[in-house]
Amino acid sequence: MIDIHCGDNLDVIRGFPDGGFDLIYIDPPFNTGRRQRRTQLRTVRDDAGDRLGWSAKRYRTTRLATRWFADRFGDDYLAFLEPRLEEAHRLLAPTGSFFLHLDFREVHYAKVVLDSIFGRASFMNEIIWAYDYGARSRTRWSPKHDNILWYAKDPEHYTFDLDAADRIPYMAPRLVGAAKAARGKTPTDTWWHTIVSPNGKEKTGYPTQKPLGVIERIVAVHSRPGDRLLDFFAGSGTLGEAGARLGRDVTLVDSSPDAVRVMKKRLAFAGAVVRRRGAGGRRL
Ligand SMILES: C[S@@+](CC[C@H](N)C(=O)[O-])C[C@H]1O[C@@H](n2cnc3c(N)ncnc32)[C@H](O)[C@@H]1O
Repeated sequence: MIDIHCGDNLDVIRGFPDGGFDLIYIDPPFNTGRRQRRTQLRTVRDDAGDRLGWSAKRYRTTRLATRWFADRFGDDYLAFLEPRLEEAHRLLAPTGSFFLHLDFREVHYAKVVLDSIFGRASFMNEIIWAYDYGARSRTRWSPKHDNILWYAKDPEHYTFDLDAADRIPYMAPRLVGAAKAARGKTPTDTWWHTIVSPNGKEKTGYPTQKPLGVIERIVAVHSRPGDRLLDFFAGSGTLGEAGARLGRDVTLVDSSPDAVRVMKKRLAFAGAVVRRRGAGGRRL
């Protein structure tokens, strides 16, 4: 079951019951100070078009849609995030896990807040998602990673099924023998994964969409079939797709009607339902 809610997440999740979710993953705006936008283009063959392509054929580019959300919070960022992190703790089942996906700008401040909400013992890992895409700085090391903090509600009892993780290639396969090399090894806390390709099938056109491979690994290892998952900064619904593919129930919340439209379309294959508050939901 995939449920989608449109609205400010604090209002929406305050109505959810204590301990109702086994896995919560959120990817809030990173406080970049920018407006996050993505324009979707379609290129079609047109002899009068403005672009010259392969074999001297001409093409015309049309703009399909521009999607955006604000990512400017300044010093108010933690004041915005903290009550939502407190709710996440309340909503987690006793063996549940919480994942907060940020980058270098706010992750250290957010960790201090999370330590005070969950307790330092509940901090399990900082996962580094490393990628290699885009421009490089000439004045400092180019930041090419995101930070994902994992907290377990109870650090003694939580789901961690490493056998369910995809395996990664050895760097020096000849040193380990053919059978081991063919099997690959288990991932560590540093995950190399490409960003969502601007031309690939996975792309929804929603700004800051995260790669399915990264989110699927979290879902596979940190939850079991039938578990209840929540993402209350859902964007294009990547957690929904990962959860639906792996047989989990997923609740998704976003304040942007544009995000809800993208999720409806993306998750139609899983029978997603958009819930209207007080109306008991409406089928797609
Ligand atoms: C970084 S994007 C999430 C991207 C998503 N992980 C994906 O893979 O597509 C952050 C999302 O948070 C949403 N958002 C920001 N403030 C919100 C709020 N107060 N309540 C609900 N959603 C909010 C934005 O509309 C945006 O879609």
